[in-house]
Amino acid sequence: MKLGRLNHVGVATPSIAGSIDFYRDVMGATAIGAPFDLPAQGVKVCFVDTPNTQIELIEPYDDSSPIAGYLRANPGGGQHHVCYEVPDILAAKAWFEERGRRVLGEPRIGAHGTPIFFVHPKDMGGVLTEIMETPGETH
Ligand code: CO
Repeated sequence: MKLGRLNHVGVATPSIAGSIDFYRDVMGATAIGAPFDLPAQGVKVCFVDTPNTQIELIEPYDDSSPIAGYLRANPGGGQHHVCYEVPDILAAKAWFEERGRRVLGEPRIGAHGTPIFFVHPKDMGGVLTEIMETPGETH
């Protein structure tokens, strides 16, 4: 597997609107995307651009969302996952599985329109890790 760039850091929030205010007014962010729904994952997301990566704000739709459980434990929100790019999603999945890491489900289309999967945080030094095929390299 070829490890690519850090695409984004996922941040869970009880309110994307509130987090947008924070990133604009406190962090000085000037490039903040429009929030959109990711129904397959039960979340609403919004990307905040920084010069070298993005922050992915994630708010649950409802209590059945996986993010809802995280927010019950961390009601104010918090850092949720990191996402790295790879050139080939299936090669990356095989790589982690060969090394005994638990890939959570099959690759699916993520917030950037390319395939993604998550790897269990307990197999990743405590970090929930998203692996994403680099945009433009889908094959
Ligand atoms: Co993500």
